[in-house]
Order: sequence, then C-alpha cells, then structure tokens
Amino acid sequence: MSLINSLRWTIRKGLWNFIARRKYLATVPKDVTSVAAVWPPVSLIPLNDIYPAIPITDIRIAKRVPADEARVKEERMMARLARLCMVFSPMQAGSPPVSPDPHQAVDEAYGKRHRQAVLRQAAAPEAAPKRPLQPPALPPELQGTPDLGMLALRGPYAGYLRKASHRPDTFEWNLTALGSYSHQTHLYAPWAQVLFKPGPGHASLKAVYIQCELGSIDPGHAHWPMAVRIALCAATTHTALVRHWTWTHLIGGEFFSAATRNHLPPDHPLCRLLWPHMVGTHASNRLAILGQLVPEGDFEAIYSLTYSGLCQLLGKAGQDFNLRVCDPEEDARQRGLLDSGLPMQTYSNCRRIFQVMLAHAERYLRLYYADDNLETDQPIRNWLAELDRLIPNGLGLAPGPLTCAALARVVARFIYLASVQHEQFGTQLWNYQLWTHTHPVRVYRDGRRVPEDVYQRLVNSNYILNVVRSPLMQDFAPLALNEPACPDRQRQAEQAFARFLLDLTRLQRKMARTPWAPWALYPADLEANINA
Ligand SMILES: [Fe+2]
Repeated sequence: MSLINSLRWTIRKGLWNFIARRKYLATVPKDVTSVAAVWPPVSLIPLNDIYPAIPITDIRIAKRVPADEARVKEERMMARLARLCMVFSPMQAGSPPVSPDPHQAVDEAYGKRHRQAVLRQAAAPEAAPKRPLQPPALPPELQGTPDLGMLALRGPYAGYLRKASHRPDTFEWNLTALGSYSHQTHLYAPWAQVLFKPGPGHASLKAVYIQCELGSIDPGHAHWPMAVRIALCAATTHTALVRHWTWTHLIGGEFFSAATRNHLPPDHPLCRLLWPHMVGTHASNRLAILGQLVPEGDFEAIYSLTYSGLCQLLGKAGQDFNLRVCDPEEDARQRGLLDSGLPMQTYSNCRRIFQVMLAHAERYLRLYYADDNLETDQPIRNWLAELDRLIPNGLGLAPGPLTCAALARVVARFIYLASVQHEQFGTQLWNYQLWTHTHPVRVYRDGRRVPEDVYQRLVNSNYILNVVRSPLMQDFAPLALNEPACPDRQRQAEQAFARFLLDLTRLQRKMARTPWAPWALYPADLEANINA
C-alpha cells in the first residue's frame, strides 16, 4: 500500500470509527412503560415506494412512522451518512489484510476508543442495569477447525439443524437456497448443505459431509477445511440477512407493531402487555435500513452477495418467515428433533425462557378474560385476524374457539421474537463473526484474509447492534391499566408484571451458577424489544 493510500485509509477509518462511536453513545434505553395516548393507523406500503434506491417490492413497511416513536433528526442524520458513504466510503480498494493474529485483528478494529465509549455508556446515570458489552470471546467450537457438530447444537446456528429426510439417523443444515442469488465472483458462493451423524449414545454430533461450490466433500478430503469455512459463511449470511434482519425486523417486528397499533387501543389490556415489546419498531427499522440496506450499506459491503442478489434474497426470504420458529418446542418438533436424544443446549436454554414468557402472558390474560368470553373481544379478534393475514404462513392458531392459553402462546411468540430471537440472531453474533480467521463472513477464492476495510465495517456494524436498549428484566408494572372501579385487578396486573421480572431473575440466578458461555442466552442480557 502506497504512503498516500495508507494515509487515506487512516483518515477514512478514523472518520467512520468516530461516527460508529457517536452512534453507539447517542443511543440510550427508551422508556417503554408509557403508552402513547393516541396514534394514527399504520398503513403498509412496499419498501421500494419509500426507498426508491432499494429494489425490494415484496416487503411492506409502515408508510409513516407513528409520531410517538418518530426520530426525525436521527433519520435525517442517517440519510446524510448514507450519502456520505457514497462520496467518502468506509471501504477502500486495496486496503491491507487483517492481522494473521485474530486477537490482534480484534484489538486493532475494536480499539481503545470504542471500548471507552462502552464504559462511558455503562457509567451514565440512565444506563440499563446490565452487563456492559465485553470484548468478543472466542467460542471453544471455533478454535482450530470449527466444530460444526457443536455449532449445530448450541449458539446462533442451532436453529438450522433438522432431521435429514430419507437418511436414517442423519441430521442436516440445508442452506442450499442461498445459491439462487448472485454473489461477488471473487468470493465463494455462500451456500452449503452439511450432513451430521450422532456420536455414541447421541451425546454429540459430527459433520460428515458438506455439499458446496467445491463439490461433495468429506472430512478426509483436502478441501474439507475450506468447505467448513463456506458452510459457516452460509450459516452466518442467512442468520444476519434473513433470520435477524428480514424475519425479526422487517416481517415479525414491523407487522407485530402495525397490527397492534391498528387494532388495540391504548387502554386495551392486551396493548398494555405488548407495548414494551413493540414500541419504536417502525422508527428503528428505518434507521437500520439507511445504515445497512441502502446501496453500499453494511450488508453489501460485508457479505458475499451482489446488491441485486441481496435485495432478491431479502424480498423472497420474507415469505419463508414462520412464527413457529419463535416457539422452541414447536420449532424443534417441526425439525424432527424432539426425540433425537441429542444434547441440544440452545434448545433447552430457549425453551426455559419461552416457558417464563408463556406463563407470564397466560397469567396476565386470565386477569381480564375467561376462555368463554375471549371470543367476544372484538379488538383481539381483529388483531389476530390482521396478523394471520399479514404474517407469511399465518399465526398457526388451532381451529375452534379462542382460549386464553392459545392467545398467550401467540403473545409469548412475539415477546420471544423481540427479545430472545433478536439477541440470538443479532447481538450474539458479536462473539462469532469477529473471528473471521475461522468463521468467515465471506470466503475469498484466492484464500486471502479479509481486508481491513471489510473487517472494520463488520466490527462497527456488530458494535452498533450492541447498543444499550431497554432491558427485558425491568418493572413493567406502570403499564397496568388504571382501574379506579376495579383496584384489585389493577394491583393483580402490577403483580403479574412483577412476577415476570421475578421469574426472569430466578432463571438468571440459576444460569449464573455455571460459568458464562458465549452461546448461552441470559435473561439479564435480553432486551424488551428490537429497537435501538
Ligand atoms: Fe436488530
């Protein structure tokens, strides 16, 4: 790299790192316990109608951000930054490769000033009472040649495991659909199918075969290490672009909020239960679109797809969303894993948190409804009908009269989407994606290491994903309906919210008895919703 290019890279990196820190510091936890008094209906229009530069017409987002959550100044700033990105990009062709020492690569890109910003934020008076962002930890399964079998049982990619059809006692990751979208030609295509066989007594899983652009590869093949890299690249590409961004933000989050705002008035009991898990979604999605999805945004700069391939993937993948993935037991059943006998650590972790959410939702709903009068609540019927219509593959409600238990399950799935799923597919990648020496977000055909500009963009993007949001473990009692005519029920609703916090606290204490692990999802780390 010439001296002049080196100087340009230093200036470029300094400027965009400064911007990342300002974004991190500017985000403070929102109050999610005050329900807006009024709001206009939310109408949904194709994303492309709002952002003509983004050719996605199959996904619809709110035509206008509701006034109570609008962040006009920040949206203008993000639009300016998107324009700045076009004229003074954070990317520089020919930037040097990252250090071969992965810890040094992390230290250089996630430097002292980024870490100081985290400490400053954690020390602020309005800081959330949660563990501040720690430097990324290298999961044991990423040391040496990545252990795909372990990664299939715990961590952000555990949700891809399913029983392989027509192959006895075999499991798979099937990420072949990603091969349908155009990718940058100097990179390997980010698609793969991995077959796994259980170890003795089904106590572990072992990857035994990978199908990818390199062909059909088994562990004895000289290309096995490269095939493992491609498989992980496929998993992380799908997790970041589809599971996190498209499913959690643009489909689940956007529709959940729109239906709630359109059908549940502010003083409806169900609105009070849902509010902290949806407020801010439309505004936050817009900010993220301007940072990540616009041309030359984070997604195009970091992952392997071309911009047109990226937009086609997002538009199409939205239709694959299924709310069932937010219900761990139901999801595991659909994937043929419930009787597998495998040590599915992430499944057990998620199931325990989901049970707390389900119990909370049912306890709260039963204060206001009985099974035989739920059907008469028109706002709830309208809310369910709109969600069932909007959400690809529907709500999956069983036919027959609506019960409190069935409604609680729908509610718990949305709370889970906004907190657990968002953590697992978004913020948790901090401990995985930054180790590009073993877990690549893109795989170069010539075997070179990721260049510094791509790596810095990846680090800053993950850094912003980890801004401090409103925590799940907080007292939502102020949301209880004010009922002068029925003070007992108001007190019981406050107690129901307190019980939710207590149950999460107990689970957190129980989990804290064993050493911290990068794959684990802790109640104390979860946020009330997906919004920055
Ligand atoms: Fe997110």
